[in-house]
Amino acid sequence: MTMTCFAASIGQRPARRAARYMCMKADEEVERLCSVLSDCVDVRSAVDAVDRSMRCAGVSEPSSSAEYIVGSVVGANSRSALRSRLDQSIGGSEKELIGNLSMRRIVRREPVQYLVGNWDFHHITLNVRTPILIPRPETEELVELIIKSETVRISQACSFLDIGTGTGAILLAILKQRANATGVGIDINPEAVRLSKENSDLLDLSSRSCFQQISIEEFVPETLFDVVASNPPYIPAKDMQTLEKEVKDHEDANALHGGVDGMDVIRIILQRTFQLLKPGGDLWLEVDPSHPEPIEALCRNDVSLQELTFVEKHDDFRGLARFVHIRRRRGSSRDVSSYR
Ligand SMILES: C[S@@+](CC[C@H](N)C(=O)[O-])C[C@H]1O[C@@H](n2cnc3c(N)ncnc32)[C@H](O)[C@@H]1O
Repeated sequence: MTMTCFAASIGQRPARRAARYMCMKADEEVERLCSVLSDCVDVRSAVDAVDRSMRCAGVSEPSSSAEYIVGSVVGANSRSALRSRLDQSIGGSEKELIGNLSMRRIVRREPVQYLVGNWDFHHITLNVRTPILIPRPETEELVELIIKSETVRISQACSFLDIGTGTGAILLAILKQRANATGVGIDINPEAVRLSKENSDLLDLSSRSCFQQISIEEFVPETLFDVVASNPPYIPAKDMQTLEKEVKDHEDANALHGGVDGMDVIRIILQRTFQLLKPGGDLWLEVDPSHPEPIEALCRNDVSLQELTFVEKHDDFRGLARFVHIRRRRGSSRDVSSYR
Protein backbone atom coordinates (compact mmCIF):
# COMPACT_ATOMS: atom_id res chain seq x y z
CA MET A 1 0.00 0.00 0.00
CA THR A 2 1.33 3.43 -0.82
CA MET A 3 1.03 5.74 2.12
CA THR A 4 0.23 9.40 2.36
CA CYS A 5 3.19 11.00 3.99
CA PHE A 6 5.41 13.91 4.76
CA ALA A 7 5.66 16.89 2.50
CA ALA A 8 6.03 14.79 -0.62
CA SER A 9 2.34 14.03 -0.80
CA ILE A 10 0.81 17.08 0.76
CA GLY A 11 -2.81 17.97 0.27
CA GLN A 12 -3.96 21.58 0.54
CA ARG A 13 -6.32 22.43 3.40
CA PRO A 14 -9.89 23.08 2.25
CA ALA A 15 -11.48 26.45 3.02
CA ARG A 16 -13.33 26.52 6.37
CA ARG A 17 -16.83 26.44 4.88
CA ALA A 18 -15.92 23.57 2.60
CA ALA A 19 -14.41 21.75 5.61
CA ARG A 20 -17.69 22.18 7.58
CA TYR A 21 -19.62 20.83 4.61
CA MET A 22 -17.22 17.87 4.36
CA CYS A 23 -17.75 17.17 8.09
CA MET A 24 -21.52 17.17 7.68
CA LYS A 25 -21.16 14.95 4.65
CA ALA A 26 -18.84 12.62 6.55
CA ASP A 27 -21.34 12.24 9.43
CA GLU A 28 -24.15 11.53 6.99
CA GLU A 29 -21.95 9.08 5.12
CA VAL A 30 -21.17 7.15 8.32
CA GLU A 31 -24.87 6.97 9.17
CA ARG A 32 -25.60 5.64 5.69
CA LEU A 33 -22.73 3.13 5.96
CA CYS A 34 -23.99 1.74 9.28
CA SER A 35 -27.39 1.12 7.77
CA VAL A 36 -25.85 -0.54 4.66
CA LEU A 37 -23.54 -2.64 6.86
CA SER A 38 -26.47 -4.00 8.84
CA ASP A 39 -27.67 -5.67 5.61
CA CYS A 40 -24.25 -7.11 4.69
CA VAL A 41 -24.05 -10.87 4.93
CA ASP A 42 -20.44 -11.56 3.99
CA VAL A 43 -16.95 -10.06 4.06
CA ARG A 44 -17.11 -9.07 0.38
CA SER A 45 -20.23 -6.93 0.81
CA ALA A 46 -18.71 -5.26 3.91
CA VAL A 47 -15.52 -4.37 2.01
CA ASP A 48 -17.60 -2.97 -0.88
CA ALA A 49 -19.80 -0.92 1.45
CA VAL A 50 -16.86 0.59 3.34
CA ASP A 51 -14.98 1.27 0.09
CA ARG A 52 -17.98 3.10 -1.37
CA SER A 53 -18.43 5.24 1.74
CA MET A 54 -14.74 6.13 1.87
CA ARG A 55 -14.95 7.26 -1.76
CA CYS A 56 -18.10 9.33 -1.19
CA ALA A 57 -16.50 11.03 1.81
CA GLY A 58 -13.31 11.80 -0.14
CA VAL A 59 -11.01 9.67 2.03
CA SER A 60 -7.61 9.09 0.45
CA GLU A 61 -6.77 5.50 -0.59
CA PRO A 62 -10.36 4.29 -0.05
CA SER A 63 -9.93 0.69 -1.26
CA SER A 64 -6.91 -0.14 0.84
CA SER A 65 -8.47 1.63 3.85
CA ALA A 66 -11.58 -0.57 3.46
CA GLU A 67 -9.53 -3.73 3.02
CA TYR A 68 -7.30 -3.06 6.03
CA ILE A 69 -10.23 -2.14 8.29
CA VAL A 70 -12.38 -5.13 7.37
CA GLY A 71 -9.33 -7.43 7.26
CA SER A 72 -8.27 -6.44 10.78
CA VAL A 73 -11.77 -7.15 12.13
CA VAL A 74 -12.17 -10.57 10.49
CA GLY A 75 -8.60 -11.62 11.37
CA ALA A 76 -7.12 -11.45 7.85
CA ASN A 77 -3.76 -9.74 8.19
CA SER A 78 -2.88 -9.56 4.49
CA ARG A 79 -4.68 -8.83 1.23
CA SER A 80 -4.34 -12.47 0.11
CA ALA A 81 -5.75 -13.68 3.45
CA LEU A 82 -8.67 -11.27 2.99
CA ARG A 83 -9.27 -12.48 -0.58
CA SER A 84 -9.61 -16.05 0.65
CA ARG A 85 -12.30 -14.98 3.14
CA LEU A 86 -14.50 -12.82 0.94
CA ASP A 87 -17.37 -15.32 1.03
CA GLN A 88 -17.15 -15.82 4.80
CA SER A 89 -20.26 -14.69 6.66
CA ILE A 90 -20.00 -11.72 8.95
CA GLY A 91 -21.61 -11.25 12.38
CA GLY A 92 -23.29 -8.33 14.14
CA SER A 93 -20.38 -7.51 16.49
CA GLU A 94 -17.94 -7.55 13.56
CA LYS A 95 -20.16 -5.17 11.60
CA GLU A 96 -20.37 -2.86 14.61
CA LEU A 97 -16.57 -2.78 14.93
CA ILE A 98 -16.18 -2.16 11.18
CA GLY A 99 -18.68 0.71 11.47
CA ASN A 100 -16.73 2.20 14.39
CA LEU A 101 -13.33 2.01 12.69
CA SER A 102 -14.76 3.38 9.44
CA MET A 103 -16.29 6.29 11.36
CA ARG A 104 -12.84 7.12 12.79
CA ARG A 105 -11.31 6.96 9.31
CA ILE A 106 -14.07 8.97 7.59
CA VAL A 107 -14.88 11.61 10.20
CA ARG A 108 -11.61 12.00 12.11
CA ARG A 109 -9.34 11.02 9.21
CA GLU A 110 -7.33 8.69 11.48
CA PRO A 111 -4.62 6.91 9.48
CA VAL A 112 -5.59 3.31 8.81
CA GLN A 113 -2.32 2.16 10.40
CA TYR A 114 -3.40 3.51 13.80
CA LEU A 115 -6.86 1.94 13.40
CA VAL A 116 -5.38 -1.47 12.63
CA GLY A 117 -2.67 -1.07 15.32
CA ASN A 118 0.23 -2.65 13.47
CA TRP A 119 2.03 -2.12 10.19
CA ASP A 120 4.47 -4.01 7.98
CA PHE A 121 7.84 -2.36 7.59
CA HIS A 122 10.64 -3.93 5.57
CA HIS A 123 10.56 -7.58 6.76
CA ILE A 124 8.98 -6.98 10.16
CA THR A 125 5.59 -6.05 11.59
CA LEU A 126 5.55 -3.20 14.11
CA ASN A 127 2.91 -2.12 16.58
CA VAL A 128 1.95 1.48 15.82
CA ARG A 129 -0.12 3.95 17.80
CA THR A 130 -0.80 7.64 17.77
CA PRO A 131 1.14 9.97 17.95
CA ILE A 132 4.32 8.01 17.21
CA LEU A 133 5.28 8.39 13.56
CA ILE A 134 4.04 5.65 11.24
CA PRO A 135 7.11 4.26 9.43
CA ARG A 136 7.13 5.32 5.77
CA PRO A 137 8.07 3.38 2.63
CA GLU A 138 10.97 5.79 2.00
CA THR A 139 12.49 4.66 5.30
CA GLU A 140 12.41 1.04 4.12
CA GLU A 141 14.71 2.22 1.33
CA LEU A 142 17.05 3.75 3.91
CA VAL A 143 17.19 0.39 5.71
CA GLU A 144 18.02 -1.35 2.41
CA LEU A 145 20.84 1.12 1.68
CA ILE A 146 22.32 0.54 5.13
CA ILE A 147 22.06 -3.25 4.98
CA LYS A 148 23.72 -3.32 1.56
CA SER A 149 26.48 -0.86 2.52
CA GLU A 150 30.09 -2.00 2.58
CA THR A 151 30.53 -1.42 6.33
CA VAL A 152 27.56 -3.61 7.22
CA ARG A 153 28.40 -6.33 4.67
CA ILE A 154 32.00 -6.62 5.87
CA SER A 155 31.42 -6.46 9.61
CA GLN A 156 28.90 -9.06 10.74
CA ALA A 157 28.81 -7.75 14.32
CA CYS A 158 28.12 -4.09 13.59
CA SER A 159 26.85 -1.77 16.30
CA PHE A 160 24.10 0.70 15.36
CA LEU A 161 22.67 3.87 16.81
CA ASP A 162 19.19 4.94 15.65
CA ILE A 163 18.52 8.59 16.50
CA GLY A 164 14.80 9.41 16.84
CA THR A 165 13.83 5.75 16.77
CA GLY A 166 10.01 6.21 16.95
CA THR A 167 8.53 2.70 16.71
CA GLY A 168 12.09 1.31 16.55
CA ALA A 169 11.57 0.76 12.81
CA ILE A 170 15.06 1.38 11.42
CA LEU A 171 17.04 -0.36 14.17
CA LEU A 172 14.73 -3.38 14.51
CA ALA A 173 14.49 -3.92 10.73
CA ILE A 174 18.30 -3.93 10.49
CA LEU A 175 18.80 -6.23 13.50
CA LYS A 176 16.25 -8.67 12.07
CA GLN A 177 18.41 -8.95 8.93
CA ARG A 178 21.82 -9.04 10.67
CA ALA A 179 21.92 -11.80 13.28
CA ASN A 180 25.11 -10.62 15.02
CA ALA A 181 24.36 -6.91 15.04
CA THR A 182 23.47 -4.92 18.15
CA GLY A 183 22.00 -1.46 18.58
CA VAL A 184 20.73 1.42 20.64
CA GLY A 185 17.67 3.48 19.79
CA ILE A 186 17.10 6.89 21.36
CA ASP A 187 14.11 9.18 21.26
CA ILE A 188 13.06 12.32 23.07
CA ASN A 189 9.47 11.04 23.33
CA PRO A 190 8.84 8.56 26.22
CA GLU A 191 5.91 6.97 24.36
CA ALA A 192 8.22 6.21 21.42
CA VAL A 193 10.64 4.47 23.76
CA ARG A 194 7.82 2.41 25.31
CA LEU A 195 6.61 1.42 21.84
CA SER A 196 10.05 0.55 20.47
CA LYS A 197 10.77 -1.64 23.53
CA GLU A 198 7.43 -3.35 23.03
CA ASN A 199 8.29 -3.96 19.36
CA SER A 200 11.75 -5.31 20.17
CA ASP A 201 10.16 -7.79 22.62
CA LEU A 202 7.58 -8.85 20.03
CA LEU A 203 10.33 -9.39 17.46
CA ASP A 204 12.53 -11.25 19.93
CA LEU A 205 15.28 -8.64 19.56
CA SER A 206 15.49 -7.33 23.12
CA SER A 207 18.75 -9.19 23.82
CA ARG A 208 20.46 -7.22 21.00
CA SER A 209 18.77 -3.84 21.35
CA CYS A 210 18.15 -1.23 23.98
CA PHE A 211 16.13 1.96 23.90
CA GLN A 212 16.61 5.12 25.87
CA GLN A 213 14.53 8.24 26.35
CA ILE A 214 16.98 11.07 25.75
CA SER A 215 17.52 13.84 23.23
CA ILE A 216 20.39 13.71 20.76
CA GLU A 217 21.71 16.88 22.38
CA GLU A 218 22.23 15.02 25.69
CA PHE A 219 23.03 11.46 24.66
CA VAL A 220 26.51 10.23 25.65
CA PRO A 221 27.26 6.69 24.45
CA GLU A 222 29.38 4.19 26.38
CA THR A 223 31.24 3.27 23.19
CA LEU A 224 31.32 4.58 19.63
CA PHE A 225 29.10 2.94 16.98
CA ASP A 226 29.96 1.43 13.57
CA VAL A 227 26.86 2.97 12.01
CA VAL A 228 24.62 5.87 13.01
CA ALA A 229 21.25 6.13 11.27
CA SER A 230 18.48 8.65 11.60
CA ASN A 231 15.22 9.71 10.08
CA PRO A 232 15.04 12.94 12.06
CA PRO A 233 12.26 15.53 12.02
CA TYR A 234 13.09 17.29 8.75
CA ILE A 235 10.03 19.08 7.36
CA PRO A 236 10.71 22.81 6.79
CA ALA A 237 8.33 25.20 8.61
CA LYS A 238 6.61 26.36 5.41
CA ASP A 239 5.60 22.78 4.54
CA MET A 240 4.18 22.06 8.02
CA GLN A 241 1.21 24.32 7.18
CA THR A 242 0.12 22.13 4.31
CA LEU A 243 0.32 18.63 5.79
CA GLU A 244 -2.69 16.38 5.28
CA LYS A 245 -5.23 16.09 8.09
CA GLU A 246 -4.17 12.46 8.69
CA VAL A 247 -0.64 13.63 9.51
CA LYS A 248 -1.41 16.99 11.14
CA ASP A 249 -4.09 15.74 13.54
CA HIS A 250 -2.67 12.36 14.50
CA GLU A 251 1.13 12.30 14.27
CA ASP A 252 3.46 14.11 16.67
CA ALA A 253 4.53 17.48 15.24
CA ASN A 254 7.89 17.07 17.03
CA ALA A 255 8.53 14.00 14.90
CA LEU A 256 8.04 16.04 11.72
CA HIS A 257 9.02 19.67 12.22
CA GLY A 258 12.70 20.33 11.63
CA GLY A 259 12.69 24.13 12.18
CA VAL A 260 12.67 26.93 9.62
CA ASP A 261 14.71 25.07 6.98
CA GLY A 262 14.04 21.58 8.37
CA MET A 263 17.67 21.08 9.41
CA ASP A 264 17.66 21.86 13.16
CA VAL A 265 18.13 18.25 14.34
CA ILE A 266 20.27 17.37 11.32
CA ARG A 267 22.80 20.09 12.26
CA ILE A 268 22.96 18.75 15.84
CA ILE A 269 23.54 15.19 14.56
CA LEU A 270 26.35 16.41 12.28
CA GLN A 271 28.00 18.33 15.12
CA ARG A 272 27.80 15.32 17.42
CA THR A 273 28.85 12.64 14.93
CA PHE A 274 32.46 12.41 16.13
CA GLN A 275 31.13 11.68 19.65
CA LEU A 276 28.95 8.86 18.34
CA LEU A 277 30.67 7.25 15.38
CA LYS A 278 33.91 5.23 15.14
CA PRO A 279 36.53 6.61 12.71
CA GLY A 280 35.70 5.01 9.36
CA GLY A 281 32.06 4.55 10.45
CA ASP A 282 28.98 5.58 8.47
CA LEU A 283 26.26 8.13 9.13
CA TRP A 284 23.03 7.64 7.16
CA LEU A 285 20.26 10.25 7.17
CA GLU A 286 16.81 10.50 5.64
CA VAL A 287 16.25 14.16 4.73
CA ASP A 288 14.13 16.61 2.77
CA PRO A 289 15.13 16.83 -0.92
CA SER A 290 16.32 20.42 -0.29
CA HIS A 291 18.89 19.17 2.26
CA PRO A 292 21.63 17.11 0.52
CA GLU A 293 23.20 20.22 -1.02
CA PRO A 294 23.53 22.28 2.19
CA ILE A 295 24.65 19.15 4.08
CA GLU A 296 27.39 18.53 1.51
CA ALA A 297 28.44 22.20 1.77
CA LEU A 298 28.56 21.96 5.59
CA CYS A 299 30.76 18.83 5.41
CA ARG A 300 33.08 20.61 2.97
CA ASN A 301 33.26 24.09 4.53
CA ASP A 302 32.48 23.91 8.26
CA VAL A 303 35.79 23.50 10.12
CA SER A 304 34.04 21.81 13.07
CA LEU A 305 32.90 19.07 10.64
CA GLN A 306 36.29 18.50 9.02
CA GLU A 307 36.29 14.84 10.13
CA LEU A 308 33.24 14.14 7.97
CA THR A 309 33.29 13.17 4.30
CA PHE A 310 30.07 13.50 2.31
CA VAL A 311 30.06 10.18 0.44
CA GLU A 312 26.89 10.28 -1.63
CA LYS A 313 23.21 11.21 -1.85
CA HIS A 314 20.57 8.70 -2.95
CA ASP A 315 17.15 9.19 -4.51
CA ASP A 316 13.96 7.62 -3.15
CA PHE A 317 11.43 5.71 -5.27
CA ARG A 318 9.84 9.01 -6.31
CA GLY A 319 13.19 10.17 -7.71
CA LEU A 320 13.71 12.72 -4.90
CA ALA A 321 17.09 13.16 -3.21
CA ARG A 322 16.08 11.65 0.14
CA PHE A 323 19.10 10.00 1.72
CA VAL A 324 22.65 11.08 2.50
CA HIS A 325 25.63 8.91 3.32
CA ILE A 326 28.45 10.52 5.32
CA ARG A 327 31.61 8.89 6.66
CA ARG A 328 33.81 9.79 9.61
CA ARG A 329 37.37 9.84 8.25
CA ARG A 330 39.68 7.01 9.30
CA GLY A 331 42.52 8.16 11.51
CA SER A 332 40.42 11.00 12.92
CA SER A 333 40.64 10.77 16.67
CA ARG A 334 39.24 13.79 18.42
CA ASP A 335 39.21 13.31 22.17
CA VAL A 336 35.59 12.43 22.87
CA SER A 337 35.85 12.78 26.65
CA SER A 338 36.64 16.48 26.46
CA TYR A 339 33.24 17.14 24.82
CA ARG A 340 31.17 15.37 27.44
C1 LIG B 1 10.55 11.34 11.65
S1 LIG B 1 10.39 10.52 13.20
C2 LIG B 1 11.26 8.99 12.81
C3 LIG B 1 10.74 7.79 13.56
C4 LIG B 1 11.36 6.46 13.09
N1 LIG B 1 12.79 6.49 13.13
C5 LIG B 1 10.92 6.16 11.67
O1 LIG B 1 11.71 6.32 10.73
O2 LIG B 1 9.77 5.74 11.48
C6 LIG B 1 11.55 11.43 14.19
C7 LIG B 1 11.67 10.95 15.63
O3 LIG B 1 12.69 11.75 16.25
C8 LIG B 1 12.30 12.06 17.58
N2 LIG B 1 13.02 13.29 17.96
C9 LIG B 1 12.72 14.57 17.64
N3 LIG B 1 13.64 15.40 18.11
C10 LIG B 1 14.57 14.65 18.76
C11 LIG B 1 15.76 14.92 19.47
N4 LIG B 1 16.22 16.18 19.60
N5 LIG B 1 16.46 13.90 20.01
C12 LIG B 1 16.01 12.62 19.88
N6 LIG B 1 14.88 12.29 19.22
C13 LIG B 1 14.16 13.28 18.66
C14 LIG B 1 10.79 12.19 17.53
O4 LIG B 1 10.20 11.99 18.79
C15 LIG B 1 10.42 11.10 16.50
O5 LIG B 1 10.12 9.89 17.11
